[in-house]
Amino acid sequence: MSPDHYLSALRSEEGRRAGPPPALLAPLSGVTDLHMRRIAQAFGASAVVSEMVAAAELARGDAESQVRAEGQGVSPHVVQLAGCAEAPMAEAARIAVANGADAIDINMGCPAKTVTGGAAGSALMRDLDHAARLLAAVRDAVAVPVTVKMRLGWDHASLNAPELARRAEALGLNGITVHGRTRQQFYKGNADWSAIRAVVEATRLPVIANGDVTGLEEARACLTASGAAGVMVGRAAVGRPWLVGAIAAGLAGRTVAPLSAGARAAAATEHYEGLIALYGPAMGVRHARKHLAAYADAAGPGALNPADRRRLVTTSEPAEALTLLQKAFLDPAGLEEASAGTTIDEAA
Ligand SMILES: Cc1cc2nc3c(=O)[nH]c(=O)nc-3n(C[C@H](O)[C@H](O)[C@H](O)COP(=O)(O)O)c2cc1C
Repeated sequence: MSPDHYLSALRSEEGRRAGPPPALLAPLSGVTDLHMRRIAQAFGASAVVSEMVAAAELARGDAESQVRAEGQGVSPHVVQLAGCAEAPMAEAARIAVANGADAIDINMGCPAKTVTGGAAGSALMRDLDHAARLLAAVRDAVAVPVTVKMRLGWDHASLNAPELARRAEALGLNGITVHGRTRQQFYKGNADWSAIRAVVEATRLPVIANGDVTGLEEARACLTASGAAGVMVGRAAVGRPWLVGAIAAGLAGRTVAPLSAGARAAAATEHYEGLIALYGPAMGVRHARKHLAAYADAAGPGALNPADRRRLVTTSEPAEALTLLQKAFLDPAGLEEASAGTTIDEAA
């Protein structure tokens, strides 16, 4: 599915029928920075979503929030907003669209106490009237498609995602994403893909299923169990930004060749250099560490010896990190280990 298809699928049923199921990169706070999104998209992700941006902070011009909402070179550019008050949510949506957002996603799934404590994220699933007022405020503020990402409910005694989806549809939203866990589960247990079916049956909006999709086989199983229109991939894509595109290609019935170690090294290098340029060397090095650890893991268990791996994720020298990153993917010993585990999921 091309980026344009994703937007037309949000706009009309006709648009939905036109393409294969989309595979999206999930919003991951502190992870899905501009460069990860760009790379995932270049490898064929149907759409990518920014990490959540606190609406109140974006509305008051906070510089870090502006960086999080940045989408230069990403198309479609989807900005996710989190917040609990209507005016800043509406204002942040207007700012994001003025800065190029093609769609706005609203966070009603984040379980973190720092977010739910402020009655944002998944806490909104405990008060659907409040949630609906926020959806309406954003819907009225912008002309672009608006989607909402939720969990199954706050806990198993209140699985109200179908009701929230119905209200979102009535308010004129364009799409729903459901992470198949409750808030109280945080990330424990397995995502319940079949429980997402109740949301699919409650609305005519496209529903994207999320949670524990780690490859093409899981994506197919998730679509079968949920009846959803597409899948969203989060943690499995960290260190493997090519994964989402490989899943999208597989869902479209295309055969994809395994991605060479050289191409993976090039993507990781581009990501690292982009982060240093985006945040500056001091902050860039710190921000990149979680990505470096994930790339080292994706390169294979024997790709770096323990001392080199430690150095990769602690060095404050970008040049040293880049050398070790190359070594992880391209060193013949590491290569052997990595290619042994290569599947179609890792190909682009
Ligand atoms: C580190 C981390 C950060 C996350 N940040 C966000 C976020 O900013 N917005 C959001 O809606 N969900 C966020 N999530 C939830 C993911 O988008 C996704 O729903 C969840 O990880 C399940 O999908 P997965 O199993 O494919 O990772 C985050 C999850 C993790 C692990």
